[in-house]
Amino acid sequence: MPATIAVLSQKGGTGKTTAVRTLTDVLRRVGLSVLAVDLDPQGNLSDYLDVAPEASPTIADVLSGRASAAEAIHDGIIPANLGLAETELALGGKMGRELTLRKALRRVGGDYDLILIDCPPALGLLTVNALVAADHALLSAEAQYFAMQGVEQALEVIELARDSLNPDLEWLGVVLNIVDMRTRHSREAYDSLRRHFGDKLIPTVIRSSIAYAESAERAQSILDYRPDLAADYLQVADELLRRLEMDKPRRGVKKLLRDVQPAQASA
Ligand SMILES: Nc1ncnc2c1ncn2[C@@H]1O[C@H](COP(=O)(O)OP(=O)(O)OP(=O)(O)O)[C@@H](O)[C@H]1O
Ligand SMILES: [Mg+2]
Repeated sequence: MPATIAVLSQKGGTGKTTAVRTLTDVLRRVGLSVLAVDLDPQGNLSDYLDVAPEASPTIADVLSGRASAAEAIHDGIIPANLGLAETELALGGKMGRELTLRKALRRVGGDYDLILIDCPPALGLLTVNALVAADHALLSAEAQYFAMQGVEQALEVIELARDSLNPDLEWLGVVLNIVDMRTRHSREAYDSLRRHFGDKLIPTVIRSSIAYAESAERAQSILDYRPDLAADYLQVADELLRRLEMDKPRRGVKKLLRDVQPAQASA
C-alpha cells in the first residue's frame, strides 16, 4: 500500500481541505501519483478539485458497498457530497464499520504513490474510518487560543484508533495553519504547540491570506495564483516527504521552491 495520510482536526475551518488540495497539487507536480479522497459530506475538496457536482459514484457508494473504490475515482479523486452524511449514519449499525474505507482502498493502493484523505470537521465514524485506512495522520490546527486543546483531542482519537484497530498508525505531525505571526494569538499558539509537541510541530507555518479563498473561488491553485505564498505549502510538503522517507521527490519540491523564492532558496 502507498503511504496513506489522513488530514484531520478536532474543529472545523482549520484549513484541512485547503491543505489536502494544495499538497495534492504540489506532490503531483513533482511526479507522484496521488489519490485524493474526500471524506467530508460538505464535499469541499471535490469542489476545489473541480469534480462535477453530479459525479457518481462517490465515496458514499464505496462505503455502502454499491461501488468499488476504482469505480469512484474521477480524475484522481474520490469525491463526496451530502449523501455521505446518510451513509455515515447507516454505516454506524454495521459490523466492521470502522474498517470499511481501509478495505475499499486496499484494492486501488497499488496504482498510487500516496493517498491523501480529507476528513470532516468531527472526530466521528468517518474520521475513524480515515484513521484506520491510513498509516499516517496529519493534524491541522488553526492558530487560535484553543489550538492546543484541539490537537490534544485529535491525538486522543489517533491513539484510540492505534490501540484498537490500526497499530501501524503513525502521527506524522501537526501543521499550524492560517497564521499571522504579527498577532499575539498566533505566536502563542505556535509556542505552546512547540513546547508540548516539540519536533512533531512542522516548523513551517501556513500564513493566513485571503488569497486562499480567492484562488479557491477562481478554481486556481495557490501555486499559480500566489506562488510567493505557496512557498509555505512547498516547505510543508518537503518536510512531510522527509518524515515519510521519500527523498527523491524532495528534489522536485526544492526546485519548485527555487522557482517561487529564488533569493531564500539559495541563501
Ligand atoms: N492559509 C489560509 N489563510 C486564510 N484563509 C485560509 C487559509 N487556508 C484556508 N483558508 C480559508 O479558510 C476557510 C476554511 O478552509 P478549509 O475549507 O480548507 O478548512 P477545513 O478545515 O477543511 O474546513 P472544514 O472543517 O469545514 O472542512 C476557507 O474559506 C479557506 O479558503
Ligand atoms: Mg474541509
